[in-house]
Amino acid sequence: MAEELVFPEGFVWGAATAAYQIEGAVAEDGRGPSIWDTFTHTPGTISDGTTGDVACDHYHRWREDIDLMRRLHLNAYRFSVAWPRVLPQGRGRVNQPGLDFYSRLVDGLLEAGITPYLTLYHFDLPQALQDDGGGWLRRSIVDDFAAFVDVVSRTLGDRVRHWMTLNEPWSFGMLGYLEGEDAPGLRLDLQSALTVAHHALLAHGAAVDILRANAPGSQVGIVLDVNHVAPASDAPEDIAAARRYDGIQNRMYLDALFHGRYPEDMLTLVGEAAPPVAPGDLRQISRPIDFLGVNLYRRSLVAAGDTLPPINWRRVNPPGEYTLMGWEVSPNALYDTLLDVHQRYAPPTIYVTENGAAFEDTLAGDGRVHDDRRVAYFRNHLAQAACVIAAGVPLHGYFAWSLLDNFEWAYGYERRFGVVHVDFATQQRTIKDSGYLLAEVARTNRIAT
Ligand code: FCB
Repeated sequence: MAEELVFPEGFVWGAATAAYQIEGAVAEDGRGPSIWDTFTHTPGTISDGTTGDVACDHYHRWREDIDLMRRLHLNAYRFSVAWPRVLPQGRGRVNQPGLDFYSRLVDGLLEAGITPYLTLYHFDLPQALQDDGGGWLRRSIVDDFAAFVDVVSRTLGDRVRHWMTLNEPWSFGMLGYLEGEDAPGLRLDLQSALTVAHHALLAHGAAVDILRANAPGSQVGIVLDVNHVAPASDAPEDIAAARRYDGIQNRMYLDALFHGRYPEDMLTLVGEAAPPVAPGDLRQISRPIDFLGVNLYRRSLVAAGDTLPPINWRRVNPPGEYTLMGWEVSPNALYDTLLDVHQRYAPPTIYVTENGAAFEDTLAGDGRVHDDRRVAYFRNHLAQAACVIAAGVPLHGYFAWSLLDNFEWAYGYERRFGVVHVDFATQQRTIKDSGYLLAEVARTNRIAT
């Protein structure tokens, strides 16, 4: 029998994007190059050979995109500010036109009754800072980030009340500095990746203080790709591998942020690769925050293996449904992850800051996109979101990834995540069936399952 699940009054309904994935206009109005410009223009880095040079041309079409959000009945929008648009060299001279763009965007959102949720770093480091001592490998990157946050929050702090310092430090450390799949495309070692993570967390802590000073009374948080990790079997070696993977993926960040320490078992395990902690660092990292943003796409079933020594893990993909990314569809992972985070760390508020799926989409003869699998994906994940709220988890909002089909990093334009279809040749936007579902849920604050 169909059941209706109701969300709490005032629930935040949004969609999320990131600057490099949608803006385009990479050389316009004084924007400087980012590590993603360099990376995408290096042959062989992006599977379809594309770049974010134009992307969704959002830099010019932002008004139209706000209109779309309005049609989707969204009351919130999560976007990121491109550091190299504001500070073309990463530090020093402020590029006023870049800052003005975000100021207009924020005003436009507020006029449309849409609350801005601003991410300060979503992977697009100014190239000049990468060239100076290896970007996040250099400890004084913390001061650079603090100065950037100061500029942005002085300008927008009167209107933006929700701030996210970093998006997925695990991703840009591991994929950027160890696996080489993302910018800056380095294949260093675990020690380097953990150094990046440590500096990123320090930068987060510094940003919290600045935001408290420049935007008093606003809500400050960080976004992590928390992953529900389960052992693939009852075998003790799989259970131990799952614990190690949970350590490298989740606990290194969450323990530092919420408990002010790195997990002892992980420090022992990684030995000399441990993060370079100076006195006072963990105090800076663990400044109280108002919310945790969770990006959730799948679960991780883990067995003992030989990936990433000394973590020595292996992903197990059981039979089931998979997205184009090869990620298992697991709505229960949303429930399990949020309950787990709540029980282990008790952040005052949790938002799902990203959740979504890439599937093959086609524009049908009737001019619509009947993305049934994505509709089912959202329906089932939203049902789990409603259930986890009923279980007592302070989940206050949900942001679909993504508003638009966009530049999906190393996969270029071949992985469509949008609730709005984008024809990249014409820039025409078409709301998908999943967008209509989201609109209905946002409008009525309930979902039929
Ligand atoms: C997340 C990123 C986001 C998007 C999704 C699919 O890791 O934060 O930019 O690429 O994955």
